[in-house]
Amino acid sequence: MALKFAAGGALAGVAAYGLYSLNQPKKYQLKMIISGGPGSGKGTQCDLLVNKYGVKHISTGDALRHHVKTGTDLGREAKAYMERGDLVPDSLVIGICKAEMETKEAKQNGWLLDGMPRTKAQCDALDTMGLVPNLFLRLDVPDEVMMDRACGRRQDPVTRQIYHVKYKKPPTQEIEARLVIRSDDTVEKMTNRIKQYHTNTTAVSGSYSDKLVALDGNRAPTDVFPAVCAAVDSALAK
Ligand code: AP5
Repeated sequence: MALKFAAGGALAGVAAYGLYSLNQPKKYQLKMIISGGPGSGKGTQCDLLVNKYGVKHISTGDALRHHVKTGTDLGREAKAYMERGDLVPDSLVIGICKAEMETKEAKQNGWLLDGMPRTKAQCDALDTMGLVPNLFLRLDVPDEVMMDRACGRRQDPVTRQIYHVKYKKPPTQEIEARLVIRSDDTVEKMTNRIKQYHTNTTAVSGSYSDKLVALDGNRAPTDVFPAVCAAVDSALAK
């Protein structure tokens, strides 16, 4: 009887903790910015991070492509910039970011911001919104490797899964036949995207020098990920 009572008490405790963890923001939330040039592997690492840490992934590039595809006013305005490989105006991406950060998921699970900030003005806007990361992680990859990765990237329009013609081949011929190429993954557009990245990266990294961890992204994704996790765990322990 006493044993039963003790077990019941323990279960009640677990249930109460479960309720707490579901309904309350976590004490040590991950608030992370992932940075790096085009094709440096940000999206690939974000998928792994979401899986491990359950954090809300906010990709300004994905959000912009969705606006373009669905033909919103914002998408129509952004399209020409994206087609050239130029940065879209700060006001558009700041608006997207603000809306995503106000979701319940971002408030409860923490956030992983991918592709923003890309300019000093965007850094300042995040600061004004009170969005201060506990980690700014930058993936460093040589330009020619970023070019090779982006130009060989393919996406499955059904599952949204990303593949690569050399480094991550699709598992079946059926999937291979339906893969699509992103319209800005050409040598000409990538040359401009890489240039834009180098123009802004010093100012952006400089805004987060106290939170900056720069990692060598020029290795297999499975070798990059443990280093990314070590940086995350260290930031969360502080
Ligand atoms: P966005 O979508 O953010 O593109 P990006 O920063 O150029 O980055 P990518 O998505 O090209 O690459 P990634 O680093 O995620 O690499 P991935 O993991 O896919 O932005 C697109 C456009 O939107 C911009 O040009 C701009 O116009 C606009 N925009 C977006 N945000 C903006 C902002 N804040 N301000 C203004 N404009 C903005 O990997 C690439 C390939 O390599 C894949 O095939 C993958 O399988 C492979 N791969 C990945 N990691 C490895 C590895 N370690 N080894 C070998 N292969 C790998």
